[in-house]
Amino acid sequence: MANRSVTFTGIKFENPFLLSSAPPTESENNILRAFDAGWGGVVVKTIGLHPVVNVVGARTKFFRTTPDDNNVSMKKRPGSALHGSWNWELISDKSIDWWVPKIRKIKQAHPSKVVIASIMAGSGSDKELRAWQTLTEAVQDAGSDGIECNFSCPHMDRKDMGSNIGKDEGLCSVVTEAVKEVAKIPVWTKLTPATQDIVVEAAACFRGGADAIVSSNTFPSLPLIDPETLEFEIQVDGKVSTGGLGGPAILPMSLANMARMSQAFPDKAFSGIGGVSDFNQALSYFMLGCGTVQVCTAAMLDSAIGPNIIKRLNSGLDAFLDKHSDTWKSVEDFRGSRRDRLVLQSQIRRPEGDSYAGGMEIVEGYAVPESAVSA
Ligand SMILES: Cc1cc2nc3c(=O)[nH]c(=O)nc-3n(C[C@H](O)[C@H](O)[C@H](O)COP(=O)(O)O)c2cc1C
Repeated sequence: MANRSVTFTGIKFENPFLLSSAPPTESENNILRAFDAGWGGVVVKTIGLHPVVNVVGARTKFFRTTPDDNNVSMKKRPGSALHGSWNWELISDKSIDWWVPKIRKIKQAHPSKVVIASIMAGSGSDKELRAWQTLTEAVQDAGSDGIECNFSCPHMDRKDMGSNIGKDEGLCSVVTEAVKEVAKIPVWTKLTPATQDIVVEAAACFRGGADAIVSSNTFPSLPLIDPETLEFEIQVDGKVSTGGLGGPAILPMSLANMARMSQAFPDKAFSGIGGVSDFNQALSYFMLGCGTVQVCTAAMLDSAIGPNIIKRLNSGLDAFLDKHSDTWKSVEDFRGSRRDRLVLQSQIRRPEGDSYAGGMEIVEGYAVPESAVSA
């Protein structure tokens, strides 16, 4: 039997796959269903202290594309494939008082499953920093195994909240430090990809004492304008704001951020998110240095909590360990094993001697070279 278990930031997981903080973890019922389905852990939908009211109408839609039109549209068309999710959903609209007894009950029912509580407050005053500590103490007293600080929500107008913290190395350090001051359990920080150099913010979180970095949250993005109605495909009273792009569309970008961070801090812990629906994508995150992997979009589209996704992730990991049983017994054995393959462009080999065709190769996306036409 393959060994799926991992120890990540000191927490033991029966498998390295978690539902990320998002609609799949927005209720007790969802989380219990997720554990029954086989997820090793969940990151609870982000909890705050301030009141939350979402926009009118749909909070999430899905971009699809077809081989015929290559369009990235929210309209369902026959033969279309998923491109990504788009959302403008805020953090949980349930209060901390609503969440605390739920977390306690969930942990009592599933002591061996991992519950990470995602929390969020502001950072503009001592009062806001105390709010982070209030949330930390509440969720740890309820029995959470760890805390994920949300420095990444892309929908916050407030300059001292969400991804605006994740864009500011000073705030990343100060808030992490405030949480660590009262935390007795591991503290993860979830960073926004919407920053110039995520390695800078990762360094700041580690300086503040973070036990792990989590990446990615969604990327800022807009839906398309419908050519018939001339309105955005999702809008309220004709208005839209930038929302977050998730799913397959962000996988390569999220991998790039993760690879750069895990190269800069090879001894630190990373949890990878973005476009995972199958073991193949999770493998890339593991080989680039992640110890756990989280899933949102794919699970939303699979009975809201991803029963088939977790089956595929677990069976994919089993098959992979089986295939490589001579060398690798667990995720830890191959974690980071391809991290050193990422180098500067100038360090990539150039063709030499006769093999150099001087740009005259026939390559998809380029015009046929003149020499090939005349030959
Ligand atoms: C509708 C929706 C709501 C989300 N809410 C939160 C949230 O409250 N806190 C958080 O940290 N991330 C939130 N996320 C981001 C996801 O946890 C995840 O980081 C992102 O969707 C990328 O993963 P994916 O490609 O598997 O979807 C949300 C995503 C979606 C689609």
